[in-house]
Amino acid sequence: MKRKVSVIGAGFVGTMTAQRIVEKNLADVVLLDIVEGLPQGKALDIMQSAPVEGFDRKITGSNDFAETEHSDIVVFTAGFPRTPGMNREELAMKNGGIVKSVVETVARHAPDCIIIMVTNPLDVMTHLAWKTSGFPAKRVMGMGGVLDSARYRAFLAEELNVSAKDIETMVLGSHGDTMVPVDTHTTLKGIPISRLIEKERLDAIIERTKNGGAEIVSLLKSGSAWHAPSSSVIAMVDAILGDSKRILPASAYLTGQYGIEDVHIGVPVKLGASGIEEIYETALSNEELKGLKRSADAVRETFEKLQI
Ligand code: NAI
Ligand code: 2OP
Repeated sequence: MKRKVSVIGAGFVGTMTAQRIVEKNLADVVLLDIVEGLPQGKALDIMQSAPVEGFDRKITGSNDFAETEHSDIVVFTAGFPRTPGMNREELAMKNGGIVKSVVETVARHAPDCIIIMVTNPLDVMTHLAWKTSGFPAKRVMGMGGVLDSARYRAFLAEELNVSAKDIETMVLGSHGDTMVPVDTHTTLKGIPISRLIEKERLDAIIERTKNGGAEIVSLLKSGSAWHAPSSSVIAMVDAILGDSKRILPASAYLTGQYGIEDVHIGVPVKLGASGIEEIYETALSNEELKGLKRSADAVRETFEKLQI
């Protein structure tokens, strides 16, 4: 069956996501942006790599959001990246208006799609997309936990000099500096990480992971990360299109799980063809649960300040 993914925003994250989708032959892609010529130029460039890379999927660029029609998934990357010193509220104000108007348009043209939000602040924008679209909660999710978990795994693997593939972890909570790494889920092939790395060093690695995005922003000076973010989006797109029932952390609408409700926050979910097919409640320590609730409160507070 022919699959279609629309990617909104032909910036760094959007373009790399589009490229990875066609290169992996996952779906045909429409890349959209408000800037005239930008998505068309980038799509044409990627299309011309098909004979060399060996993919068959089609990629087109457009400024017409009606082109999202019949998309299985719409990935939202439209908006501004964080700049050094910018706080969560300022970014929410800047991106809230963009996300609201684009989601309204997309929901009209692709009423059956699954939304994957990427725009920051992630959990706030995911909640806004869910409210604006009127879609069932299982069809609106945010990508944050896959990236935060990937960063943590990469740093732990570097520390232990092992393959990152053998590090298992689950980072929950809000994307970024209020994320909650879960101790019991962090192992090297089942060996608890606390047996392998002493507490002080582990705390330093967790702190670096929390600031993973900011560290890259401060190195780049302008713009933010896009390589690991697009890989992380692909893990979710692949799980949905392949109906593979993978368990991944994603920003999902909670209705009382973990004692939290009416907010989007990163939790372990099962991803399949219909979107979020299950939300899992894992055992958390008191400290971890407090962290998750703190994270949820911060998302709710920022969302309420949006007033849109
Ligand atoms: P970018 O600036 O390279 O690209 C954003 C694109 O959105 C631009 O091409 C811009 O023209 C477009 N755009 C703006 N308004 C639009 C509208 N109304 N309709 C369509 N397109 C519109 O930014 P980048 O680096 O691609 O980041 C995009 C977003 O993703 C940012 O908010 C960033 O913070 C976020 N991000 C989130 C991550 C996560 O883990 N959730 C990871 C990395 C980035
Ligand atoms: C990141 O974590 C800025 O959310 C973006 O890289």
